[in-house]
Parts: sequence; structure tokens; C-alpha cells
Amino acid sequence: MKPLFTKPLLVYHTGLFVLVVVTGLVISQITTEYIILLSILAVEYFMLIIMLLHIYDKFMKPIKKASQTVDEFIKGNYRARVHHSTGGIIGELNDKLNVLARNVSEFKIQEQVQEEQLSTVIDNTQSGLVLIDEKGYIHLVNRKFISLFGGEYRNYHGYLYYDVLENETIHKTVQEAFLYEKNITHSFTQFIGVDKKYIEIIGAPIFNERNMPKGVVLLLYDITHLKKLELMRKDFVANVSHELKTPVTSISGFAETLLNGAMHDRDSLHHFLTIIHDESTRLQDLLEDLLKLSRLEKDDFKLVKTTVDVNSLVDEVLPIITQGAEQKGIALRTDVENEITFEAEAQLVKQILINLLSNAISYTAETGAVNLKVSDEGENVHIRVSDDGIGISEEAVPRIFERFYRVDKARSRNTGGTGLGLAIVKHIVDVHDGTISVDSGPGEGSVFHVYLPKNEKASS
Ligand SMILES: Nc1ncnc2c1ncn2[C@@H]1O[C@H](COP(=O)(O)OP(=O)(O)OP(=O)(O)O)[C@@H](O)[C@H]1O
Ligand SMILES: [Mg+2]
Repeated sequence: MKPLFTKPLLVYHTGLFVLVVVTGLVISQITTEYIILLSILAVEYFMLIIMLLHIYDKFMKPIKKASQTVDEFIKGNYRARVHHSTGGIIGELNDKLNVLARNVSEFKIQEQVQEEQLSTVIDNTQSGLVLIDEKGYIHLVNRKFISLFGGEYRNYHGYLYYDVLENETIHKTVQEAFLYEKNITHSFTQFIGVDKKYIEIIGAPIFNERNMPKGVVLLLYDITHLKKLELMRKDFVANVSHELKTPVTSISGFAETLLNGAMHDRDSLHHFLTIIHDESTRLQDLLEDLLKLSRLEKDDFKLVKTTVDVNSLVDEVLPIITQGAEQKGIALRTDVENEITFEAEAQLVKQILINLLSNAISYTAETGAVNLKVSDEGENVHIRVSDDGIGISEEAVPRIFERFYRVDKARSRNTGGTGLGLAIVKHIVDVHDGTISVDSGPGEGSVFHVYLPKNEKASS
């Protein structure tokens, strides 16, 4: 049970009692009538008690309540409010305390929201992030970092970086960032299972208001795709140089031979000039193919679509192809459904037909057969080029669309191939949002299937 009189009230009451006793003693000198004396003292006592209780209720109790509420604020409970209704200066103080609590509470909520937003951003960023203080203790690692280096948050947080991170490049980056007080960039490779990842690490020192180093932020970027692109670019340049070297060497060699005297012999002159002509044609073909590829690969490449009539397109392609087929005695058959039209870039579709049909003729023995079939399959146009030629092995099939890939280099070169034909076809199919596939096996012939969306304009 709560004591009736709390401590200050007890003190005031004792003072009050003493006052009544003193008043009694003073009055007893004036009158000896006990009834009057006791009546006066009783009235005085009750008046004083009422005054005391009034003061207590008006001032002491609200102050006590306010103090308890402030205690709650100190503990972090900003929802606590002073509910004691009272007017005057104390009421004003209570109202202000309530406003203060409300403001602090809103501020805290905002702070919490911002903290959550920041940690969501940090955790979902695509680069690894580590925060290290000036003593080398890790204060933060994000999810991407954990996905790169394994473990869990608690395996890093609060530990010295060199105790939990084995990577020497990371150590070097942290040390150099502290030492040189500027951003440091390094790169290293990291295995995630069997996957080799290329990581670029940037160590950025952070400073306090007195410009003293306070720690280092490490940012780790997965640059594997960039490295792959760089490797592909290097390979491409090497391949192009290699492809150019052969015809250029041969042209310059034969020209030199001619200049050294062979031009005076009519037969040699004709023979060498024919070679020079063939090699320059080859060079021209290669450059044209490279230009076609580079146009298709441009970032701002845009298809110029028109309504393509498949029959007339095939009629344009056949004269280009038939000569090669006739020379080898290959039977070239076409089976094109009537009146197929679709939206595409006509010149590019023509290129698909030329490249697939020339391959079919090139990689088919004499007296073989090559078929072209074009059919309307609802949303797609299906182009099917088949031959009964040498076929392609299972291992080679996934690679034939790579630039410069040739199953049999010597044979392909003899047919004048640059190894870019199918890479161009694949690009054209891709820019039309189509698909391409191959059914083939060594000695079984090959069937190339191309599906191009018709993209028909909705009829009004
Ligand atoms: N119909 C086919 N039958 C068998 N092999 C094929 C056929 N089509 C393509 N290939 C193989 O795929 C390789 C790549 O073909 P691609 O058309 O890209 O190059 P290419 O024919 O060698 O040269 P070009 O760029 O002049 O066409 C060829 O070298 C050949 O080995
Ligand atoms: Mg080809």
C-alpha cells in the first residue's frame, strides 16, 4: 500500500503540527478557557491541512508526475506523456514536456526510417562494402560482400580486418589508404565455388572534422563481365589481325615476285594476278562482314522494318546462290508457302538466307542436295535450310555462331570462308527477336531452323 504521507508531505505536516502547538502555547497565555483554545487550534489545524493538501495537489503532485515522465524519456520511452491536468505555470511546463516528447519521438522515428533506408541501400547495392575504423576493426559488411567472401555478418563485425580477411590485396588496400590518405584501387581474382570472379577494390579513407583519418571504406566491384568483354575484344583483335595477315602477306608476296621479274612471263603474270585478285576479294569480303557485324552491334542500332514478301525475297537470293550449287552439281530445291509477309528488315533477312544457303552448299559434297523451306507458323515465319553434307559434331554445334569459329579451318578457308557468316546470322536473328537452332551430326547433314516473329501490324 502507498504511504498516506510521502516524505516532503510528512515534513510539512510535522512543521504544521509544531506551528499549531506554538500557537496553542501563545493563546494559552491569553485565555484559560480550554474550549475556546481547542476550538481555535482545531480550526487552525484544519485550515492549514487543507492549505497543505491544496499546495501538494497543485504543485508537488504535477512536478512529481513530470519528473517521472522525464525519467521515462531518459530510458528512451518517448511515448510517455504527462497526463496530470493542471493550469498555470506547471500546466504550461507539462504541455511543453509533452510537445518535446512528441518532437523527439517523431525525430526518432525519422531517424529509424532513414537508418532502415540506408541499410537497405547498403545491403542491396551491387558492390561489396566494408567499413573499417582507424584501429582496424570492421564495423559493417554488406550482403554483397558476404556473398563474395562467404561467412555471416557476425563473422566479420567487431573483428580486426586482418584477422578475418585473408586476402593480401585487401590488406594492401587498407594499409595504403591509411598511409597515403587517398583513394587506392587494386584488383584481384576470387573463386566462388568453381567460378572465377574478377574483383576491383577501392579503399577510400574517411576523415573526422579535424581532418584526421577516421577509417576506411572498402568498395568491391565484380568486374568479371568487363574482364570477359576485354578478353573477347583482345581475342577479336587477334583473330582479325590473323585473318587479315594471310591475304595481305600473299598479295604483297606475289606482287613482289611479279616486280622481281615474273611479270615478264605471261603465264606467271596471269597466275599471280589471279591469286592477288582472289586474295583481295577475300580481304574485301572479310572487311564487309566485319562492317556488317559492327553495324549490328552498335548501341544505337535500329531496324528499318518494312513488309517483307518472302517469295520475292527468295527470288532475289536464288540467282546469287544457284551458280555455286550448279558448279558442284548440287540440287537446290525451294519450298516457299505462298503469300507469306512479315515485318522485318528485308536486306538482313536476305543475308540470313544467303549465309545459310552458301554454307549448306559449301559444306555439302558434290551431287548433294540442299533444301530451303519457308512456312508460316502463326506468330512466326519458319525458315528451314537443310543439306545432306558433312554435318557438324556435337561439340562444335554450340560454337559455330562464334566469330571466326570454323570446324575445319583449312577446309573452310579453301571455300573462301571468313568464319563470320553464322555470327552475322545469329546477330540478325537476335535483333529481330527471333531464334535459331541446328540439328546436325557428322555425316548426317545439317538442318538450320530460324524463327522470326511476324510482328504483323494490327489491322484496324
Ligand atoms: N551447313 C553446314 N554444314 C556443315 N558445317 C557447317 C555448316 N554451316 C556452317 N558450318 C560450320 O560452321 C563454321 C562457321 O560457319 P560460318 O558461316 O560462320 O563461317 P564460314 O562458312 O567458315 O565462313 P563465312 O564467314 O564466309 O561464311 C563453318 O566453318 C563450318 O565449319
Ligand atoms: Mg559461311
